[in-house]
Parts: sequence; structure tokens; C-alpha cells
Amino acid sequence: MTNVKFYYGENVPLEMHKVRIVQKLNLVPIERRLQAITEAGNNTFLLKNADIFIDMLTDSGVNAMSDRQLAAMMIADDSYAGSETFTRLENKISEIFGMDYFLPTHQGRACENILSQILIKPGDVLPMNYHFTTTKAHIVLNGGSIEEIPIDEALNITSDCPFKGNMDIDKLKGIINKHGAAKIPFVRLEAGTNLIGGQPFSLENMEEVRQVCDEFGILIVLDASLLADNLYFMKTREEKCKDMSIRELTRAISDLSDIIYFSARKLGCARGGGIIINDQELFLKIREFIPLYEGFLTYGGMSVREIEAITVGLDETMDEDMINQSPQFIEFMVEELQKKGVPVVTPAGGLGCHIDAMKFLDHIPQNQYPAGALASALFIVSGVRGMERGTLSEQRDEHGVEPLANMELLRLALPRRVFTLSQVKYAIDRIGWLHENRRLVGGLTFVDEPKNLRFFFGKLDTVSDWQTQLVDRFKKDFGDSM
Ligand code: F0G
Repeated sequence: MTNVKFYYGENVPLEMHKVRIVQKLNLVPIERRLQAITEAGNNTFLLKNADIFIDMLTDSGVNAMSDRQLAAMMIADDSYAGSETFTRLENKISEIFGMDYFLPTHQGRACENILSQILIKPGDVLPMNYHFTTTKAHIVLNGGSIEEIPIDEALNITSDCPFKGNMDIDKLKGIINKHGAAKIPFVRLEAGTNLIGGQPFSLENMEEVRQVCDEFGILIVLDASLLADNLYFMKTREEKCKDMSIRELTRAISDLSDIIYFSARKLGCARGGGIIINDQELFLKIREFIPLYEGFLTYGGMSVREIEAITVGLDETMDEDMINQSPQFIEFMVEELQKKGVPVVTPAGGLGCHIDAMKFLDHIPQNQYPAGALASALFIVSGVRGMERGTLSEQRDEHGVEPLANMELLRLALPRRVFTLSQVKYAIDRIGWLHENRRLVGGLTFVDEPKNLRFFFGKLDTVSDWQTQLVDRFKKDFGDSM
């Protein structure tokens, strides 16, 4: 069902924009890359941009902005209270989502903080299709626990299931029967489910979740941070959505939600976030927390320039030509890597291309962090920065036990409209080389392990001198220059 007009040849995606502002990149020599990753404790979060060639760490806050967004930023109204800029965003949100109220926050996790504090009591249970790191941290901080109930297929890395982000409806009913609706303040659905490879849920699945929640009087909270990708997949993969416009689809999803929150670092291609809601009573409760943590109600911790950019960015997100860009590049990358025998998450999702590190480095045990080791190795051989999404991104439980992640993924994000096809091809080429030489890669071990969200600033060492051997092999094949 994919719209063929954006491809040429068999699978080559076409950029539906031209580049008008550029940022210079550096490709430093491999010795410097090795030194940089060592200084960073093998944690790609701790690398400095000057050492990075292609930054595929995240799509968060690094999407390309359009000329219309930049132009809008110039007319931002700075008023602390009653800013016209905020009114423009409020109106755009109500036009797109059809809900009455919007509360601004400085980014997505700020919404999670406030919603968790207001809605969750100790002992509560939160069913969701899958967790996101910051979401889980806030829920646990407020005494709740999460129950992940994606369909079984979600955890099959290689699959042709078009909607691996779907929720298992029987499991949802089972949790409600077991704990009782009073212990379940809301069901959380995450669009473009991040940690399982940017996988979408279907409109039909959301309708089923709604039915169950209606039966038991439970709220649905939608994390819409990756909604753009989810919309694209509904449109191209779901029969009932193919004749709906992106605006109609967005409205259908919104009508099925009680509360929507989002990170505008992803949705809207700027930086910020917010909570969208219809229920006045709940709105008034949430509203009290905004000035406490974020800022006054007409900016919520965001600069007014960013607010203008979000308003235009959200409008542009309603355009199929725009939201198809990242998923089509990801699909290209996934297909080309598969041709080289590299294990990747399929079907291609949103956000980025996800490599199955457990399989890629099947000689490294999970407690030596294969996905972290792969991120480190890929940076050394290419200057491409990815993000570990596996056991390193998990948190020890209250007894200090480290849970092993369901999947060990290396995420290579493709921020929207940022990289050219030849840069993507370079990354594919280097990943292919690393795959051929994968036996040279070894594990990692913590030398400095923070208690909370350890993946952000923890430091690790290699378990052997595998990195120097990798560099030697690289130089034999490529010479000294790159
Ligand atoms: N929800 C989802 C699904 C996310 O992917 C993120 C952020 C957040 C909430 C939190 O939003 O960063 O604005 O506070 N994901 C980023 C990433 C960090 O790289 O995947 P935030």
C-alpha cells in the first residue's frame, strides 16, 4: 500500500525537501575515535560532537527545521503571560487534536512527572504496550509498577507483523480482573513504541483498548511523542486507514484518548512538550503543577521561539510528504543491511534502524552488554554514534539485581530530514564491515554505575583489549586515513 511516488528504482527513497542550511561535519581519524570513546567510558552519551561524524544517537530535538518554522520563530511574542505565540500553539493543537485544553511543559518527561504525581498512588498498576525509560522511572518513583502487555509478536525481532506495538487485549482484561480497576489509574499506549524498535499500534487495536477501558471506567493516556511515524504506518499498512487523511487519522486517535502528552523534541520537530486534555476537572488539577515545575501557563518552560516552531512543525506533521521521510529512509537502511546478513528489527519501524546486538554479537553474554559493546565498536570504525537500547538501559531493582533486557538493540536514529542518502549508505557500509569482523568485538563492564538512569552517565571499561585489535584490523583494510 506504500505510496510509490516517493521512491525510484526498487527501494530508493526520495528526499521531498532541499537543504538550505548546513552544518559542517568532522570525520576524525580512527585513533582519535578510539581515544574519544575511551574517555567517554564506552558510553556514547558522553561523546563530544566534535568527535562524531554521523550522529544517530537520537531523533530527539535534532530534527531538521523547515524554512517556515525558522520564519515563525522571528515573530515570537515574548510576553511572560498571555503571549500570542502560546495562543497560536493552543489553537493549532485544538484544530489538530480537537480537545479543549493544552498545558505546556519543557519536554516529554515533564509531562510524565506531572501526570504520574497526579494520577498514581503507591501500589497502583499501569498496563502499557511497552515502557519508555523516563516513563517507567516516574511511575516507579510515585509508587506504581508497570505491566507491559504488547502482543507476543512484539518481542520477535524478525517478524512481518505490521503492528508490533499493539496491546494484547486478553492480557489487558486479565490485569484488570486480577488487580481491579481501582488500582489502575490509566492504561498507557505509546505511539511508535520506542524500545521495541519504533513499532506502531493499529487504529483497530486502539479501538479495542478503548472498549475495554470504557467497560471498566479506566482512562487512556497516549504518549504521542512518536505519533508521526505511527500515523505513517497506519496510513500505509492498515486497510481501514488508507483512504483517511493524516488529519482524520490524528483526530480518530485523539477521540480514543483521554489524555495525550508528547515530546515536541520529536513530534513537531522543535523542542518542548505538553499535555492535551478534554476533562476540565483533571485539567484544573494538572494546571496547578505547571507553574510549580515548568513555568507560567503560557510558556511552560519553553522559549517562545520554540513554541512558534512547534506550531508550524505540528501543522507540517499533518503532511504525508513530510512524515514519510524518516520511515522510508529507515526501511532502506533495514533492507540494505539485511542484504548484508546483518540482523535487524523487522519490519522496519519509525525513529531509526535497530540492530539486533544479541545476534550480531552472540558470543558476548548479556551481562557484558552486547548492545553497548556494539555501539562502542561502531563508533570506533565509523564515527557513527548510535544508542544502546538493552540491558544497560535497564535499572537494578530494589535488591540490586540487574534485569536482563528482552532485547539487546543498537538504535541508529534517523532524525527527520537530516541525513542524505549517501551518509546513510556510508553507515550501512561500515556496519557491514563490522559484521564481517564481529568476532573481534568483546564485552564491557561497569566502572562507574549511577543508581538512576545509569545509561545516561555511567562509565564502562572493556573486558579485554579487543578495541585495539579492532583498530588494527580496520587499518589493514582501510589504511590510516579514516
Ligand atoms: N516518550 C517517548 C516515547 C520518548 O521516546 C521520549 C524520549 C519521551 C517520552 C521523553 O521525552 O525526551 O522530551 O523528555 N525519547 C528520547 C529518545 C529521549 O532518544 O528516544 P523527552
